[in-house]
Amino acid sequence: MKLEGKVACITGSAGGLGYAMAKQMAIEGAIVVMNDLDETGLQKAVDLLKNEGFKVNEYAANIANKDQVTAMMKFIYDSFGRIDILVNNAGGSLHTPKKLEEIMEEHWDLVLDVNLKGTFLCSQAVVPYMKAKTGGSIINVASIGGRTASIVTGVAYAAAKGGIISFTRRLAKEIGRYGIRVNAIAPGLVISGERMQDTWENMNEIEQNSVLEEIPLRRLGSIEEQASVVTFLASNDSHYMTGAILDVNGGRFMG
Ligand SMILES: NC(=O)c1ccc[n+]([C@@H]2O[C@H](COP(=O)([O-])OP(=O)(O)OC[C@H]3O[C@@H](n4cnc5c(N)ncnc54)[C@H](O)[C@@H]3O)[C@@H](O)[C@H]2O)c1
Repeated sequence: MKLEGKVACITGSAGGLGYAMAKQMAIEGAIVVMNDLDETGLQKAVDLLKNEGFKVNEYAANIANKDQVTAMMKFIYDSFGRIDILVNNAGGSLHTPKKLEEIMEEHWDLVLDVNLKGTFLCSQAVVPYMKAKTGGSIINVASIGGRTASIVTGVAYAAAKGGIISFTRRLAKEIGRYGIRVNAIAPGLVISGERMQDTWENMNEIEQNSVLEEIPLRRLGSIEEQASVVTFLASNDSHYMTGAILDVNGGRFMG
């Protein structure tokens, strides 16, 4: 098992990509702490995995709140004696509009706070614990929308995910000397839950085909296909990689 003895914190893991990451890391032997803002959803997700026999734990917190993030990382370190892996996964467009004229200041703030500030706060809070041991792996979840102009998302999301990409590279330079690696994945469109399913089903056949034609592999990806790349970045298989942005998008955007 590739993550035996490792402790991993995965933000926003009550469902979607984060849930799949939690499951795969638990399969690889990690002790996983699943975080989410949605306490009920988090509890359900944790119960589901515990019933399957996996070592998972929950910590509900808003990752855009510094005090809550600080308390969460302290709790994990005090409980398990180490934190080896942080996946900054919580984020998305968070039901905000994508047309420029419809984006209110509070929409902008929410998207930037959860995606970008949350990534910063969690990384800042975990680094001292990783430094105290032999290092660690931080994996940020960007998006194809931060790699290239995508019509699927609005400017706030594009700015936040573009920011995560720059943040990843800059932080990788700063903390590599402590054995802490910082990488990111940039997923393409993934049906990660009911909301994404609705988005996809609300497109007509022509729109769906035009998306699929842009993807050399001619299909959408699965949450498991994102999780396996994150698990690779968390493991020693990627030991000499830092500052990398991996496009997990079926070839739709080639960086
Ligand atoms: N699904 C896609 O097509 C796709 C594509 C590119 C990138 N991504 C990125 O992947 C990540 C996961 O996306 P998903 O599709 O699984 O989304 P999702 O909505 O299923 O999961 C996101 C989770 O984050 C949680 N969350 C929201 N605000 C939070 C906060 N302040 N604190 C803690 N948790 C919070 C939500 O409750 C939710 O459970 C996001 O960062 C998203 O931008 C997704």
